[in-house]
Amino acid sequence: MAGSAIGLGNIWRFPYMVGEHGGASFIILYILSTIFVSLPIFVAEVVLGRKSRMSAAYSMSSLRPGKRVWKFAGYLAVLIPLIICSYYSVIGGWSMDFMLKSFSGFFVRTSTDEVTGLFGNLTDSVWKPAVMHLLFLGVSCLVVMRGVKTGIEKFSKLSMPVLFILIIVMICYSVTLPGAKAGIEYLLKPDFSHLTPRSFAYAMGQSFYSLSLGMGIIITYGAYVSKHENILASSAGTAVADFAFAIFAGLAIMPAVFAAGIEPGAGPGLIFQSIPFIFSKMGENLPVISGIVAAFFFIAVVVAALTSCISLVEVGTSFLSEKYGMSRKKAVLIVYCICGFIGTLCALEGRLFDAFDWFCSNILLLVLSFLVAVFVGFILKKEEVWDNVTNQGQIAVNGKIFPVVYFLIRWVAPIAIAVIFFTNFIL
Ligand code: PFF
Repeated sequence: MAGSAIGLGNIWRFPYMVGEHGGASFIILYILSTIFVSLPIFVAEVVLGRKSRMSAAYSMSSLRPGKRVWKFAGYLAVLIPLIICSYYSVIGGWSMDFMLKSFSGFFVRTSTDEVTGLFGNLTDSVWKPAVMHLLFLGVSCLVVMRGVKTGIEKFSKLSMPVLFILIIVMICYSVTLPGAKAGIEYLLKPDFSHLTPRSFAYAMGQSFYSLSLGMGIIITYGAYVSKHENILASSAGTAVADFAFAIFAGLAIMPAVFAAGIEPGAGPGLIFQSIPFIFSKMGENLPVISGIVAAFFFIAVVVAALTSCISLVEVGTSFLSEKYGMSRKKAVLIVYCICGFIGTLCALEGRLFDAFDWFCSNILLLVLSFLVAVFVGFILKKEEVWDNVTNQGQIAVNGKIFPVVYFLIRWVAPIAIAVIFFTNFIL
C-alpha cells in the first residue's frame, strides 16, 4: 500500500499544488484533510476489501447485493483508474524523456539559464510528449500483458529507498543555493491570506490522490490484507510515510524554485523546471556526482511512475477479462487504445490535461470516497466493522480509538466531502 501511495503524487503533484495554493497554509489544510478525512476513508477502504475479499468493482455490490448505487460505485472504481491512467502516463512520458536526457549528462552540460526552459521545449513540441506518453503506456501494458509484475515489484522495492536517499541528497544541496531561504520559508511559514475556499477542495483532492483513495485501489489491495493485520496502525503508517515523502520532495524542490527564479505556481511542469536546475548548478562544481545523481533520480522516478501505471492498467484489464471473458491480451490492448487516445489528447493540449486532473481529483475521487464512507458508516453494521478491524476481538485495538475512527468514517468524512464538493461548484 505504501508502494501504491508513494509515487508521482508526492514528487510531482504535491510540490506544484503547494506552489499554486499558497505554500505552508496549504500544507496545513492537507494535514488536516489527511487526519480527519483521508485516514478514516483509508481504513474504510481496507475494511471493504478485507471483508468482501473482492476487487473494488464488486466489493460493495457483493456485500449488499441488489442496490444500484453500489453497482454504480463499482463501475466508478473501474472508470477512475482508467482516466487517471490516461494522463498519469503523460507525466510518465515526460519523466522518461528527462531520464533519457540525464543518461547523456544533458543537465550537467546545459547552463542554468537554459535548463529551466527544457520542459517548455518538450511541451511545445507537437509530437514528442504524445510519443513519449504512448511509449510509457506501452511499457506498462507490456508488463501487465506478460505478467512480469514480480520483477518490477522487486525492482521498485530497491528503487524506492534509493529515491528517498537521493531526495535527501538533493535537499542538502538545494538548501545551500543562493536564495533558497525564501523557498524554505514558503514551505514552512503559513500565510493564510493565500487561501481561498477552493483551497480546501484542492488539499483534500491531493490527499486522496496521494494515498490512492477514491479510486478503488486500496479496496482491491485490502482484499489481500491478512485478517491478523492491525489496519489502524498500518493505515496510519502508510499516511505518515506518504507525507514524509511529499514534504521531503517539497523541501528539495521549493528552495531550487526560488533560487532559479521560477514562479512557484508554474503548474504541472514545476519539478521538470526546478530539478534540472539543481543538477545543472551542482554540475558546475561536481559534474560527475551530479550526472550520476540525476540519472539515478530519473530512473527511480520512472520506476515509481511505472509501478503506479501498472496497477492502473491492471484494474481495467482484469475487469474486462472477468466481466466479458476476454483474453488478457485483448483486454490490455483495449485499455491501451482507450488510455492511449485520451492521454494523447492530454499530451497535445495542456488545458485538457489540467481539466482531467481537476475532474478526477476534485470530483470523481470525492464521489467514490463519499460512497465508501456512507457504505462502511451506515450500510455495514457497526459490529461488522468492529469485527473486521479487530479480527473478532483478537487484535488489541485501543478501545478509545475505534469509536473515534468510526465516528470520523460515519459523520466527519462524508459531511466534509459533501461540503467541499459543493464549494467546488458554488464558490
Ligand atoms: N498515490 C499515487 C501517487 O501519489 O503517485 C498515485 C496512484 C498510484 C494512483 C497508483 C493510482 C494508483 F493505482
